[in-house]
Amino acid sequence: MALQELEQHGEKMDEVYRWTRHVYDWTRPLFLFGRDTLVDGLDPPQGGRVCELGCGTAHNLIRLARRRPDLKIIGVDASQAMLEVAQRNILRAGLRDQVALVHGYAESYQPPDAVDAVLFPYSLSMMPEPALAIQNASGWLREGGAIHLVDFGDMRGWPAGARKALLGFLNRFEVYPRPELFESIPDGIELAARWRLGGYCVSATLVPAEAAAFTRR
Ligand SMILES: C[S@@+](CC[C@H](N)C(=O)[O-])C[C@H]1O[C@@H](n2cnc3c(N)ncnc32)[C@H](O)[C@@H]1O
Repeated sequence: MALQELEQHGEKMDEVYRWTRHVYDWTRPLFLFGRDTLVDGLDPPQGGRVCELGCGTAHNLIRLARRRPDLKIIGVDASQAMLEVAQRNILRAGLRDQVALVHGYAESYQPPDAVDAVLFPYSLSMMPEPALAIQNASGWLREGGAIHLVDFGDMRGWPAGARKALLGFLNRFEVYPRPELFESIPDGIELAARWRLGGYCVSATLVPAEAAAFTRR
């Protein structure tokens, strides 16, 4: 994807979050189900590295850093506006030595070192090229590493009217659930997915067969 397109996407994300970022941390627990379960279930090796793509205000980064002070954690986000809030939250939490923030795009970001886990909590559905983002991330996992995601589903078990209304509401905020992604996972990546609440959300783990390919240390 061309850098110019990614930058345009970053500007769009800034627009989406210009005002809502100030209430984000109070309001999102009401509907971003499964984020804390994802973070609390992670078990990277001692001294390991974790990267969240689309880290928003750093809710997940801070939760993980507090539970596992041994980890080195990176948060990447396309929105400068969101990163400003994330930076404030991290400083307030006293975690600036453990958590680094980077302005970047999941489709093209390259970390300085291989990582043990990559997280996509409610971020893939906002990315212009989610399959590319997964492919990119799967290239920098250490052996035994995995990609962990939770996101909106297709509400397949919901009554048609409610489903249409909710998807329409999400689209207004540039959120586009993409259940078809799970049907077209490339060969060589093992997928375990669990749909919940009538398809409201999906949690998944993706394990590339060759997770040792990324050699930079
Ligand atoms: C719904 S928020 C989720 C934030 C956080 N993961 C959480 O659980 O609270 C989605 C975030 O993904 C970011 N984002 C969207 N597209 C992105 C991309 N292509 N690369 C990196 N971040 C992206 C947005 O700027 C936003 O901060």
